Amino acid sequence: MDINGVSAIVTGGASGIGAASARLLASKGAKVVVADLPHQQEKGSALADEIGGAFCAVDVTNTDDIKNAVEMAKSMGPLRVLVNSAGIGWAQRTVGKDGSYDSAANLDAFKKVIAINLVGSFDCIRICATAMSTTEPLEYGERGAIVNIASVAAFDGQIGQASYSASKGGVVGMTLPIARDLAAVGVRVNTVAPGLIDTPIYGEGENSELFKANLQKGVLFPQRLGFQSELASMVVECVTNSYMNAETIRVDGGIRMPPK
Ligand SMILES: NC(=O)c1ccc[n+]([C@@H]2O[C@H](COP(=O)([O-])OP(=O)(O)OC[C@H]3O[C@@H](n4cnc5c(N)ncnc54)[C@H](O)[C@@H]3O)[C@@H](O)[C@H]2O)c1
Repeated sequence: MDINGVSAIVTGGASGIGAASARLLASKGAKVVVADLPHQQEKGSALADEIGGAFCAVDVTNTDDIKNAVEMAKSMGPLRVLVNSAGIGWAQRTVGKDGSYDSAANLDAFKKVIAINLVGSFDCIRICATAMSTTEPLEYGERGAIVNIASVAAFDGQIGQASYSASKGGVVGMTLPIARDLAAVGVRVNTVAPGLIDTPIYGEGENSELFKANLQKGVLFPQRLGFQSELASMVVECVTNSYMNAETIRVDGGIRMPPK
């Protein structure tokens, strides 16, 4: 699919994998709406200026915010691309150590991770795909492409990752049925499952550099964290390769996560 002149929405677009994807989509001629939380406005607007796109303050748990981003995108070109990169991590064991109910995992935290990573992704898909369905079809009836960012934690969740793995497993699980739903309107859906990628999700500063240096020991080859550009490359391949549909692809240097 040629994305020159189309509009694209990248959630979580102000940082990390989302920002790298926004840059690469723009380099291929897409007009990108960088959709991210209000506190990311400075970073998101700077990126949008750099790539000729626009920043839109979006919390993916708010449907009205998503609709605003879609309207903004439609004003910039036919909406044909959605990248769902907004996400948060959370780690807590299911039970505490003292046997009290209060020390069991925080249920509100579990629900929040699901609300952002899973429900938020689905809401963006249903609203964006609705807009995509009204665009003029391209050759072979194609109207657009959606890429979700899951995680290898969907398959190899570690100790403490129940909520995160549930959210990302949900994203993997819904990829095929949504691709089947959206075939009717000519929209493809794929999911990329990153391994350990060097982004601000691990924090910044000396401690986080030490943490990342330790993490990379488990990568099969090459034994380092992934570059954001390596993820963006796969995201854009899933968008532009018209024969990619309904698939989840690990981009992880061959890592299989151990229990901890
Ligand atoms: N970095 C990794 O190693 C890694 C591995 C596997 C999966 N992932 C996934 O990749 C995606 C991108 O992560 P990243 O590493 O680039 O992290 P990041 O923290 O650099 O970027 C995530 C972005 O999502 C935004 N965001 C968070 N909650 C949001 C909400 N409710 N609404 C809108 N935006 C919101 C943040 O503001 C941030 O800009 C996430 O879904 C993450 O779970 C990352």
